[in-house]
Amino acid sequence: MIRIISPSILSADFGNLQSMTEMINASEADWLHFDVMDGVFVPNISFGFPVMEAVKKHCTKLLDVHIMIVHPEKYVQQFARAGAGMLTFHFETAENPLEVINLIHTEGIKAGITINPDIPVSELEPFIDKVDMVLLMTVFAGYGGQKFIEESYNRIDELKAMIDRKNPACLIEVDGGVTLENASKLFKHGVNVLVAGSTVFNAPDPMKMIVDLKNA
Ligand code: DX5
Ligand code: ZN
Repeated sequence: MIRIISPSILSADFGNLQSMTEMINASEADWLHFDVMDGVFVPNISFGFPVMEAVKKHCTKLLDVHIMIVHPEKYVQQFARAGAGMLTFHFETAENPLEVINLIHTEGIKAGITINPDIPVSELEPFIDKVDMVLLMTVFAGYGGQKFIEESYNRIDELKAMIDRKNPACLIEVDGGVTLENASKLFKHGVNVLVAGSTVFNAPDPMKMIVDLKNA
């Protein structure tokens, strides 16, 4: 089974973004997770294209971009050009999710779709065979450092069954409250990609934490 660790730069020291990115390059992390928040779909505002371009310049890992913004279709091309390798948008924000998926694929990058914990997993059924990844939020999108929602395991199981049926190549990512304590259980439930912000960047040895998460 594929195991990918995607540290979230949201929890990094923004005064030292270059050294943070170089640490990720030297680590066993496969991807770098980049959270874009607009203050409209989510209450918080994080960062946008200039920061992403700066990180991309130093980053050798795939940029796993998670956009928490309204009107995602307007910005797909700009995210692709700024260096996204995987672009994941919220189902809740798209009037026509299929159109967004097609726009992302037209840019030659991978497409992901995501939902907050209050949206039924079944809403994703029509898109499962069109995307490269489904991200299940295991906290409500908006802030790093929140507590993992335990009911998420049932949602993961439901999604995994749907993916096995409709598109076994589709990856499952989870985001929010991932720790060394729940990582192995998440992998056992079929998760492929763990996003980890505070667990990695607040660890005394982030590079070791990435290895430990991967081998959990
Ligand atoms: C939350 C973001 C997450 C966040 C995760 O809206 O999507 O990617 O950085 O942070 P932790 O791992 O600290 O919960
Ligand atoms: Zn995220």
